Amino acid sequence: MTKPAPTRLTIRRPDDWHLHLRDGAMLQGVLPHSAAHFGRAIIMPNLVPPVVTGAQAAAYRDRIMAALPEGSTFTPLMTLYLTEDTDPEDVARAHADGLVTAVKLYPAGATTNSASGVRDFDKVRPVLEKMAEIGCPLCVHGEVTDPEVDIFDREAVFIDKVLKPIRKKTPDLRVIMEHVTTQDAVDYVRDTHKNLAATITTHHLIINRNDILVGGIKPHFYCLPVAKRERHRIALVQAATSGDKRFFLGTDSAPHTDANKLQPCGCAGCFTAPNTMSCLAEVFDAAKKLGQLEAFTSLNGPRFYGLPVNEETITLTKGEPVAYPAQVDTGDGPVTVFDPGFPLHWRIEA
Ligand code: DOR
Ligand code: ZN
Repeated sequence: MTKPAPTRLTIRRPDDWHLHLRDGAMLQGVLPHSAAHFGRAIIMPNLVPPVVTGAQAAAYRDRIMAALPEGSTFTPLMTLYLTEDTDPEDVARAHADGLVTAVKLYPAGATTNSASGVRDFDKVRPVLEKMAEIGCPLCVHGEVTDPEVDIFDREAVFIDKVLKPIRKKTPDLRVIMEHVTTQDAVDYVRDTHKNLAATITTHHLIINRNDILVGGIKPHFYCLPVAKRERHRIALVQAATSGDKRFFLGTDSAPHTDANKLQPCGCAGCFTAPNTMSCLAEVFDAAKKLGQLEAFTSLNGPRFYGLPVNEETITLTKGEPVAYPAQVDTGDGPVTVFDPGFPLHWRIEA
């Protein structure tokens, strides 16, 4: 006789290892949705202007703490935005003070607010050397920006042209390839045994490029890196549900107002913070891998970052479909919540 499928699951409180919270009214509107389920999150520094110095990270952290709902224990883990002018000593100080958990590398022009990112990777060598020395990890947006490289190939080309050389020159640097979208990235991470991990988003486990383009363009599915072919999505689901310690959740929940998404040139980003855990439970359940959900959301990330796992737990229960709001209202305007395209049966009791 086969065992009945579980309808209740208690796991350590998850963390989000890649999150955009923005600032001001948007921060106020979106933060409660992450804080409701997650213990900690790596906070992306691509504000306008970006969070470049330790002092700016401290001020941003204060604004996040001030926007937290009463009684929340959510902890923002701050990052610095790497530029060609970043001072290695400022990074070292901010890391030693416990203010900054990681540094973020955006190739210039790769995505939203990445204009101050890196053009010449040799210019940031001293910072990367310092980070390797002090054990500060590098979060990487892994896409090349050369106009001649097809957008669907940009991640795979980045691995060969940028990431492999960086890792060869600085093998002690701990690197997180963020929001991987390809079989190529999954294979690269799997073939490496030291100092490399990858985050996977919720939406890249659910959508492929057809979902964005077939039957009319779906701006709310447009994000960067853009979703790839179905075979890549399947590779991501296999990696996420495998229990492999090098893969963990980074939602890349990236809110933009509908006014900014629904444009002739709309912004990139999927806002998944409210329903991410329900979506993930559905994906893991469908793959018959619910037993690996905790590793992906709550164990593998802290292990790679050298942080303790959360002591609190959350419980997920399966039943009638859960309704999430289609939009979240913020002082900047409504933000559409990611629609996975299937009913969500798992409810989160945080
Ligand atoms: O889709 C994305 N949105 N990808 C990124 O890398 C940045 C993000 C944002 O900040 O909106
Ligand atoms: Zn991001």
